[in-house]
Amino acid sequence: MSDPGLQRFRERLNPIDEEIARLLGERFQICREVAEYKEERGIPMMQPQRMAEVLDRYLARGAEASLPADFTESLFELLIEATCRLEDELMEGPVAPSAAEAALPPGPEEPELTQSMRWASEPLPMLEQCQQRYGDTFTLRLRHLGTWVVLADPEDVKKVFSIDTSELGVGMPNLALKPVLGGHSVMLSEEPEHMVQRKLMLPRFHGERMREDAEMMTELARREVRSWPVGEPFQLWPRMQALTQEVVMRAVFGDDEGRLDRLRGLLTNLTEAINDEDRLYKLALLGPEWLERSPGWREAMAPVEEEVLAEARRRRDAGQEGRRDAVSILVEARHEDDGSPLSDKELRDELLTLLTDGPTSSSLAWVFERLLRHPDKLARLQEELLAGGGDEYLDAVIKETLRLRPPVSVVVRRLLKPASLGGFELPAGTLIAPCVYLIHHREDVYENPGEFIPERFLTQRAAVPTWIPFGGGARRCLAASYAEQEMKRVLRTVLEEVELAPVESQGERISRAAIAFSPAEHGLVVAKPLATSVAQ
Ligand code: HEM
Repeated sequence: MSDPGLQRFRERLNPIDEEIARLLGERFQICREVAEYKEERGIPMMQPQRMAEVLDRYLARGAEASLPADFTESLFELLIEATCRLEDELMEGPVAPSAAEAALPPGPEEPELTQSMRWASEPLPMLEQCQQRYGDTFTLRLRHLGTWVVLADPEDVKKVFSIDTSELGVGMPNLALKPVLGGHSVMLSEEPEHMVQRKLMLPRFHGERMREDAEMMTELARREVRSWPVGEPFQLWPRMQALTQEVVMRAVFGDDEGRLDRLRGLLTNLTEAINDEDRLYKLALLGPEWLERSPGWREAMAPVEEEVLAEARRRRDAGQEGRRDAVSILVEARHEDDGSPLSDKELRDELLTLLTDGPTSSSLAWVFERLLRHPDKLARLQEELLAGGGDEYLDAVIKETLRLRPPVSVVVRRLLKPASLGGFELPAGTLIAPCVYLIHHREDVYENPGEFIPERFLTQRAAVPTWIPFGGGARRCLAASYAEQEMKRVLRTVLEEVELAPVESQGERISRAAIAFSPAEHGLVVAKPLATSVAQ
């Protein structure tokens, strides 16, 4: 237990730490631009004598500020480590690949660091450019994420999703979000544990349990819409984050209003910390270990962990009383080998994996972003809802949004046995990345793939391997049907309650967030009361 007297120092340090992180982020950005500028023009990168000059400058500034020389020197080293070294690595140029790597499909020849910087800042254009240049199978080398063979041919994707689970491993053990999910998360565990965990959780998000939540979703959506400002611009994405968070909190903890209050604020802080743009960029360069040490991170994560575990313990002590939420399922679960209950760490990782549902909120923000730019489609949907019959068009709108703006651009696996994919013999150990984004934008599968045309899914099937927003195979999103039901309920309820208009007629750009891609303006809209209620 830490000394409570230290709290006031922490309070003074926190804003300063945040400011340092922000300034470092700015510094990163400038260094990156300098390095790119130099590379384009063939200007040599940071030279040893320049490093000595910069160190002298730091020492002089440190002396002015009465900082001890060893402190200033350490600070300089940290900055060189974090930023100037980027230049040196760029200067090294292409690194000769190992024999195993040389046999992989072709891909960009830039150094790993340059590829990582591109991936961090513009992953979708990067994927498109690589496909144009190298075809449907190419290799990316990404720092902290590994060397990926990207697959954009549906035949290859089909093959990957049908490989036996014993021959496929977790694709991203160093996944950037490991500090959030934790090593015991179902998303990061290997077989056979993965399947045991998956089977435990599946019933909570399917069949009867899923249908029981439909009314709760509508009710929460109604409550949310009624809190929106009328007649003034606001961003839909954060509102959808708040709403999907309410839904998932109930799926995980049950309907216990009082208990959820504290967690609500803590989770919102955590979501903001995860999506902080500055942090995301540094995360791509410095890796997940840096994230755990970064200022403000533990402050956002620790209280969520404490609250989640406190609730799990309360449940264990008080008994389940017929509860069927995710906490109860996990608290009652026993390890198959020795009958022991899940440890705190296991509970924490499973629960945090469920609670950090990012894709549903960004997909909902996109549904409205697209529909509001296509009034004819919106009108058709409203007509269907008014008619009160089936929900064919509603379903097609959701499917088309998930096709055009998939929240996740690739799903990654590790080959545990050699496989032949894209015309290449890939050795065991290769990371393969079925590319959701490129598959969804294939002209030979979807006519005018860049256009929002829900009608296509009135006749065309949305299924693996050409429609894969939820991934596929044994690691397909275990809440796919749940998320689709939620999106339908929310979309219907919003249209029944309010009329939305976009603030700008032009569509929003795709911007990158930690878990999913979101509209760059965060879905900027204005709400007004309905002229005629869809509900009537
Ligand atoms: C539109 C909403 C969503 C999208 C697009 C989405 C997408 C995905 C994707 C692409 C994967 C990886 C699949 C793979 O590797 O093949 C995944 C896995 C997973 N998702 Fe979702 N997801 C959504 C909503 C949710 C929700 C609401 C939850 C739970 C509350 C959830 C829980 C999970 C879990 C636990 C896994 C790991 C499954 C496993 O490894 O067996 N997802 N999701």
